[in-house]
This record gives sequence, structure tokens and C-alpha cells, in this order.
Amino acid sequence: MKIIITGVAGFIGSNLAKTLLDRGHEIIGIDNLSYGLERNIQDFRDHPKFKFVFGDIANPLILKDFHSEIIIHLASQKIPRYTNALRTLDENYLMLRNIIQKCILDRSKIIFASTSDVYGKNEKVPFHEESDLVLGSTTIKRWAYASSKIYGEQYIIANSEEYGLKYTIGRFFGSYGPNHNLTWWGGPQSGFITKALENEEIEIHGDGSQTRTFTYVDDTVDALVKFVENNSSDNEIFNTGSNPDEEISILGLGKLIWKLVNGENSEPKFKYIPYSSFGKYEDVMRRVPDISKLKQFFNFDPQYSLEEGLKKTIEWQRKLLGK
Ligand SMILES: NC(=O)c1ccc[n+]([C@@H]2O[C@H](COP(=O)([O-])OP(=O)(O)OC[C@H]3O[C@@H](n4cnc5c(N)ncnc54)[C@H](O)[C@@H]3O)[C@@H](O)[C@H]2O)c1
Repeated sequence: MKIIITGVAGFIGSNLAKTLLDRGHEIIGIDNLSYGLERNIQDFRDHPKFKFVFGDIANPLILKDFHSEIIIHLASQKIPRYTNALRTLDENYLMLRNIIQKCILDRSKIIFASTSDVYGKNEKVPFHEESDLVLGSTTIKRWAYASSKIYGEQYIIANSEEYGLKYTIGRFFGSYGPNHNLTWWGGPQSGFITKALENEEIEIHGDGSQTRTFTYVDDTVDALVKFVENNSSDNEIFNTGSNPDEEISILGLGKLIWKLVNGENSEPKFKYIPYSSFGKYEDVMRRVPDISKLKQFFNFDPQYSLEEGLKKTIEWQRKLLGK
């Protein structure tokens, strides 16, 4: 199939592009390299079925000369923890509007990267696709990300009803692995591994009791491949994550990473960053997916436990940092 991937030089995009090329698909990958890196795509940059386009997806003209059967829309701004919420709201809307218009024009399907953050503060875990989406006050800017993705999902579904747009929405739960961004943008694993490798304090936001259910990137990619290759994914929303028994606290994650990097007998070092240092902030205390829909539709079965995935990620990061 001919597929456009937005955000191809980012973490999930680069891993996904490699797998789809290996499976014989033709890929046009777009990225403005605002968070993505050329090194993430260097392995397949010269692949005969890959074309890289440098550009901003918020610009509607960028897609004018390209056509595909599917657009996998991964490019996004994330939780504005240190940045302004305006860019999250503006860019996520503008990009999606352009992608949807293009899909309607070319009669192509959109696969949209949504997030577990849409469930917000809902205390009833595990989250099912029909669970309530419970956000905090609009004066807390971190909710701008979840708002933009909820708006995105609604906007896609409304376009589907009005214009027959075909879609699959994946709500990703904490993906990590090779090519994740090494700044805070890449999530806790990347920062924790770097600190453990340097024998420095791991920075824990809050007291570390908040939990997450992380997904090794190969499992995230496996689900995305199923969305591409199976029509039964059309017009459906899927939690895209690991089994609920993989839930771990952020402090537990820090301890596990420290042990895998420095051995059982090394005492982990932590520094606690109060939420108040991000201004008015609220965290999600538990985030656990119900992935039975993904299992039922595609026999999906996550292949990596957290420990196995972390070992592979640490190996990659060690090599990259020369540690
Ligand atoms: N990684 C996760 O754990 C996770 C969890 C939930 C949802 N998601 C969603 O999955 C998607 C991919 O996440 P990721 O972790 O790979 O992110 P990433 O930041 O590593 O990749 C996104 C890519 O999009 C590019 N980009 C951003 N704005 C652009 C623009 N205006 N024009 C062109 N390119 C642009 C960036 O340069 C980057 O390479 C995002 O939509 C994100 O919201 C990710």
C-alpha cells in the first residue's frame, strides 16, 4: 500500500516506517524536524520505497503533490509542561484539519494517534474505549493536550458522518523504546535511563506514586500495522497499550531502571520535583488500559514485558550515548 506518515522522524513514526517498509509498503514520510531527528530515519532514508519530505504539516500546501491510500497522522504537540498551551491547541488543530481535508479529497483513510491522556482523571481503571473522559479545569494548561486530542477524535468522527471519511483512532499508552527523544519530551524512560547511566539523581515529578502502563514501541507498531492492513479496524477506536498487569508507579519505574543499569546492589538516587514547579498542574494518578478490544479484533498480544522492553531500550541508549 502507499502510505503517508506525518511525524516520520519522531519516535513512533521512525519505528513504524521501518516496519512498514520491511512489509513491502511504500512510504512518504513528512516531518519538520521540530522534535524528530534525521538520525532516526537514516537506516531507511535511501530505501527505494521511501521518500522523505521536509515540511510543516500546518501548511496545507505541503501535501498537495502527494497521494496515498492511508495517512497515519502522528505529528503532534504534546502536554505543555514547560511550554505554552497555545501551540498545542493551534498546531494540533491546523495539522489535523489539513490531513482530514486531504483524506476526503483523495478518499484515503486516516489513522490518528490519540492518547491515554484523554481519560484524564477518571478514577475507574482499567479504561475501556467507552469510558468517560474526565478532564480538569481549563485554567490548568496541561489539559490542552488531551483537549486537542479529544477535539481531534470528535472532528474525525464528525467528518466521517458528514463526508464518509474512513478512520482508525489509536489511544496510545506510554510508548517507549529506541529512537525516543532524549529530552523530557520523550517521556520518563529516556530521562531516567540517562540519569542512571550517569549515576546521577533520577528526577521524579510529584512523589512518584502515580502509575502508568507502558508499551514497548514494537508492540505499539504491531497494533498500528494491524490498523493499516485490516479493514475491520475501519471507523473504530482502540486502546493501544500493554496488559493491565504491567501497571507500575513512576517511582517503581525509576527503581527498576536503576537496577537494570547499575545492578541490584547499587542504591538508586532520586530527586523529587514538586508539581508546583510547573505552575498550576494536575497529574493523572492511575493510567491502565483495557486492551480486550484490540485482542478481540486482531488477536493482539503484547510481546514485551516492561523489563524486557527496558533492557532493549537501555542497550540502545548506552550505545547512543557511548556509556
Ligand atoms: N510516545 C507516546 O508514548 C505517546 C503516547 C500517547 C500518544 N502519542 C501520540 O503519538 C504520536 C507520536 O508520538 P511520538 O512519541 O512519536 O512523538 P515525537 O515528538 O517523537 O514525533 C512527532 C514528530 O512530529 C514532528 N512534527 C511535530 N509538529 C510538526 C509539524 N507541524 N510539521 C511536521 N512535523 C511535525 C516532530 O518533529 C516529530 O518528529 C503523537 O501524536 C503523540 O501525541 C504518543
